[in-house]
Amino acid sequence: MAEGSHTGSIEPVLVIVPTYNERENLTPLLQRLHDALPDVHALVVDDGSPDGTGELADKIAASDDRVHVLHRTEKAGLGAAYIAGFHWGLARDYATLVEMDADGSHAPEDLPRLLAALEESDLVIGSRYVAGGALVNWPKHREALSRGANIYSRIALGVPVNDMTAGFRAYRAHVLAAMPLGEVVSAGYCFQIDLTLRTAEGGFDIVEVPITFTEREIGTSKMNGSIVGEAMLRVAQWGLQRRFGQLRRLVTRR
Ligand code: GDD
Ligand code: MN
Repeated sequence: MAEGSHTGSIEPVLVIVPTYNERENLTPLLQRLHDALPDVHALVVDDGSPDGTGELADKIAASDDRVHVLHRTEKAGLGAAYIAGFHWGLARDYATLVEMDADGSHAPEDLPRLLAALEESDLVIGSRYVAGGALVNWPKHREALSRGANIYSRIALGVPVNDMTAGFRAYRAHVLAAMPLGEVVSAGYCFQIDLTLRTAEGGFDIVEVPITFTEREIGTSKMNGSIVGEAMLRVAQWGLQRRFGQLRRLVTRR
């Protein structure tokens, strides 16, 4: 089914930006996005940020038709925010749904290259760990954690993607429409691994294009121990399920 499924226009494009306390980052980010790509729409998905990010997003949206806002009442994790954003975008017939962090780590200026690659693919991942990819100002411990998570995931899952936790990506809408989004329970950053695995298992084409990931200058990361713990447990569980599935198919084939 997936082979050659990436036909048709990739427009209109919706860029989903999850936010939790990103008030100082939001205005410059949306400005850069629309300087790079004047026609794309942005959806800010705010989890009731105490710093007023949601109110600021409403203010921006009031004077710019390309900016939309989804307010959620509590901080329920990156995965839940994106799922809500996907439902919103699918209901409005966007052809492409982009994921991008609000803190400037993902350069909007790189997005045209991701979208160009999506012409020939179903999912494009902005990757730090392919030739040409780079990290700027990321603390060594975060790099070690991220690289470790990728090696662990690749061995456990056997999916040939170098940056499975990457948060800068572009999906063709049909990939997400084909997924049981209501069944995705990954709350934290393992959501990225989860959807990469589901996309690969769906038989869709995945391409990685190199990006430079630059650590935020303002605000703080929301990464924490429970996000790491959730990822380790879930990846192990998915890995075992996949291996048993393969084994079962081998045994029942004869
Ligand atoms: N709505 C909402 N709810 N947004 C959230 C939440 C949440 O619970 N948690 C984080 N975010 C938003 C942040 O406001 C930011 O825009 C984006 O998600 C990424 O969060 P960061 O806290 O800046 O992530 P990071 O820099 O530590 O992690 C980066 O690396 C991870 C591992 O590779 C990101 O690129 C992640 O996407 C990536 O998975
Ligand atoms: Mn960040």
